[in-house]
Amino acid sequence: MKILFVCLGNICRSPAAEGIFAHKAQQAGLQVEIDSAGTAAYHAGEKADRRMRQTAKSRGYELTSISRPVTNADYESFDYLIAMDNQNYDELREKALTPEQAEKVLRMRDFFSNADYDHVPDPYYGGSKGFDIVIDLLEEGSDNLIKFLKQH
Ligand code: 4NP
Repeated sequence: MKILFVCLGNICRSPAAEGIFAHKAQQAGLQVEIDSAGTAAYHAGEKADRRMRQTAKSRGYELTSISRPVTNADYESFDYLIAMDNQNYDELREKALTPEQAEKVLRMRDFFSNADYDHVPDPYYGGSKGFDIVIDLLEEGSDNLIKFLKQH
């Protein structure tokens, strides 16, 4: 099983998703390969945002990813591409070359238990609270995504 987490810049939300999901999948004994990418390339080659790394670290997660853009090959090599927000989702669906590729694109919000959020909000231009909200949503979403993957 291979999962790709996708946001806009691949420096905040999807690196956090990658780190949190990796941690939880290992705890759950789920064999899975994980990566993350951005729909935009303007932060390619960069580590995750320092604020995101520090907040993640304070919550027990080490973020090690280096930003890269999504490629056409990702639609073939991954089983699921999980979009952080609705704009990421629309872009990933549009870039799919076949209906089978488009069906691989899911939203992180599909795995939220509560209805307070319908996406993972971009924390980049906001205050520190936004980074904690990202972690909260991704912890909950990862738990439910693991349940989903164990059934599929
Ligand atoms: P991300 O956050 O998509 O969660 O990595 C962002 C990072 C950078 C920018 C926007 C969102 N930016 O505009 O540079």
